[in-house]
Amino acid sequence: MAKKILVANWKLNPTTPREAKQLFTKIKKQTSGLKRSEVVIAPPAIWLSLLDAGQNRQLSLAGQDAFYESAGAFTGRLSSPMFRYAGATHIIIGHSERRLAGDTDDIINKKIKAALKARLKVIFCFGETERDSRGEYLTVLKNQIKTGLQRIGKDNFKHLIMAYEPVWAIGERAREADTPSDFLHNAIFIKKVLAGIVDRKTALAIPILYGGSVNKKNIGDFLGDGEADGVLVGRASLDATEFGAMIKIAEELK
Ligand code: PGA
Repeated sequence: MAKKILVANWKLNPTTPREAKQLFTKIKKQTSGLKRSEVVIAPPAIWLSLLDAGQNRQLSLAGQDAFYESAGAFTGRLSSPMFRYAGATHIIIGHSERRLAGDTDDIINKKIKAALKARLKVIFCFGETERDSRGEYLTVLKNQIKTGLQRIGKDNFKHLIMAYEPVWAIGERAREADTPSDFLHNAIFIKKVLAGIVDRKTALAIPILYGGSVNKKNIGDFLGDGEADGVLVGRASLDATEFGAMIKIAEELK
């Protein structure tokens, strides 16, 4: 069975290098010896070089976003190759908070291509902002996926991790939580869309994570009943005890 993937998206936290190192060390301890799960930590880029995932193959580092150009007059931007030099093996692209800040599906596609070229594994986020009862949100998902992945070579699909984030169900302002059975339903749809882009075998091997407000109370249900290949965690990943409990649940899942 494939390992469950737990991505910790720290966003704009912690606020000092000392706290970042402390949090990282506490989480790192809880990843040694993992057999059925793996952890990917995405700290703010500026803390990356301070953190060392070491030889522990169950722990990796990620960037939270990278620009599609690799050099030039782009003030404030960071490139995928730079993330690799700083120790990242993964990169999050298309997070709802980046989309809110202006990333379109075409920009996301360019970022994904640049990241794959730099040999980073891409955690591709997508998801609808509103859910309608007629299922029109599925068209939104389909378009996000198709445009995000356009003109990507078949060989690159094995470096992709899909992270489905129903935007209405994430963050502090989330109105309600999504359910595992709903996730499962959407994951099947996502696999179908992927199978329309690459061959079925390749499509079915791409992990699909659930990325909406996951914590130690609901992770077991999403990984179990929801059959998620992993989770993308925001707030709950900033508390080493809570996140440690989540790792344990993933590791011990029946
Ligand atoms: P949350 O964030 O876990 O804090 O809801 C999830 C995300 O935005 O990836």
